[in-house]
Amino acid sequence: MTPDNSEHTVQVRDYFDARVADYDAFYDPPSPLWRAFNRVFRKAVYLRRDQALAVHRQYGCRTMLDVGCGSGQNTVYWARHGVERIVGVDIAPEMIRMAAALAEQAGVADRCEFQQLDFAQMERGRRFDSIVACGVFDYVEQAEPFLAHMAQFADRVIYASFPGWTLVRSPLRKIRYALRGCPTHFYRRRELVDLFRRVGFGPAEILPVPSGHLAWAVRGTP
Ligand SMILES: C[S@@+](CC[C@H](N)C(=O)[O-])C[C@H]1O[C@@H](n2cnc3c(N)ncnc32)[C@H](O)[C@@H]1O
Repeated sequence: MTPDNSEHTVQVRDYFDARVADYDAFYDPPSPLWRAFNRVFRKAVYLRRDQALAVHRQYGCRTMLDVGCGSGQNTVYWARHGVERIVGVDIAPEMIRMAAALAEQAGVADRCEFQQLDFAQMERGRRFDSIVACGVFDYVEQAEPFLAHMAQFADRVIYASFPGWTLVRSPLRKIRYALRGCPTHFYRRRELVDLFRRVGFGPAEILPVPSGHLAWAVRGTP
């Protein structure tokens, strides 16, 4: 992909850079009540994390690239659950700072590496068994080149979550984020089938979840 310092990218970076603590609290809430609330109303966050690990294991993967790793909660979780080597990249500097601290705290820093960059600008070269992007396509301006770029780094699996389009919730979410300066995007199932077909890594497997879709493709499947 070509270097992208578009207004869209800058807006997404600034949005997340300013909300690291809020975002991290989804995973590590300040009270048991919040924890219970998140388990019910934000279960999509856990579903996409668990499914990524299940797919990674199912296809015998050992290494992983976590695109848009945020504060590293998933990265560290996956490292603790058997991913042998994992690189997390994120466009927001504060997210990367927090992710590195979390890996250190969790005792998995020797298996994790973090880099602050716009994934669209990540230079090709390194390869991973699986590459995942959880909660990232919500903020990606052009899904096809982004997914195609992901495919350049993966030997076996590409996996991502996609927020679904719904008549009431999606426009409200779009407005809510736009008011805070962050663009958002939504996807219909058939768009994902086409998207994966055009990228050509392998046909999409799509799992519907309450927030939208989890989709992945495996190299070498018909
Ligand atoms: C909603 S958070 C998800 C974080 C983490 N994957 C998770 O599931 O908890 C989205 C993250 O994607 C990052 N992001 C968005 N666009 C990106 C890009 N082009 N390159 C790298 N990171 C990006 C944001 O900075 C943010 O930290």
